[in-house]
Amino acid sequence: MKGIILAGGQGTRLHPITLGVSKQLLPVYDKPMIYYPLSALMLAGITDIQIISSPDHLSMFRKLLGDGSWLGISLSYAEQDQPRGIADAFLTSADHIGNDSVALVLGDNIFHGSRFGTLLQQATQNVEGCVLFGHPVREPERYGVGELDERGNLVSIEEKPTSPRTNLAITGLYLYDDTVVDIARGLQPSERGELEITDINRIYLERGEATLIPLGRGFVWLDTGTNEALMEAGQYVQVLQHRQGVRIACVEEIAWRMGYIDREACYRLGSRLAQSPYGRYIMEVTQIDQSEQEYGISRAAQVLT
Ligand code: G1P
Repeated sequence: MKGIILAGGQGTRLHPITLGVSKQLLPVYDKPMIYYPLSALMLAGITDIQIISSPDHLSMFRKLLGDGSWLGISLSYAEQDQPRGIADAFLTSADHIGNDSVALVLGDNIFHGSRFGTLLQQATQNVEGCVLFGHPVREPERYGVGELDERGNLVSIEEKPTSPRTNLAITGLYLYDDTVVDIARGLQPSERGELEITDINRIYLERGEATLIPLGRGFVWLDTGTNEALMEAGQYVQVLQHRQGVRIACVEEIAWRMGYIDREACYRLGSRLAQSPYGRYIMEVTQIDQSEQEYGISRAAQVLT
């Protein structure tokens, strides 16, 4: 399965912050925003990932993340000269996707929860049709909204409805089979001139091939589109990490735990950032884990889930 991170858009709701920098490079507490969606794909076991962004911003993503070899994964980049909607990602990345299935994640979505990695690894096995993830929110009218029947089957999808049927927002993580590029090619732009992801999902729904996995209350799904949301996301990460002593979306640690790089390589990545608490955490966790394992205690389960 291939991965795509969509990191385009002008971030107009965050102006003037995003006049000079891509939204997906802004800090969410101790790391760039894009580390969070990147870590979701890495935890799913996806190692061939394309990042889509505007021509202005692409060089900054390249500078930050390179070709991915430092994380034992492959990262490539594709340019989207105009924001043409989320579903345009499948046209921009058609060559990258080839005949494979694909996971698309929006570059400003943050997921966290117990056993999230395991859930994703299961969901990405043999994807047929499309798999969406739902999360209860207080203001569903701001999102795509899904409706399930009593047996858990997805029965309707609406984009930013004025009167939502449920409080189940459809998150910015989508799994598709190998027909998604063809579907995107046949799509008509919406009234606002964009290729809507919800239209793609509706086509799968009409075919009876759309599944929605509800992420229950034990999961956290945050978006970062407004000043308040961005601040809250940072606070969430800060409180959690301070309390637990583990860092979430630490891509170096995930690369090591998933077996993409070895312990020594991970330690070296940390040592390059040794002036920051983030870097020192990587150095510590690669060492602590060794002694913990000697006592039969593994942190892997904690971090990977
Ligand atoms: C987009 C999608 C929406 C989805 C949301 C998740 O909205 O159109 O269906 O719920 O992402 O973040 P946007 O954030 O582009 O308004």
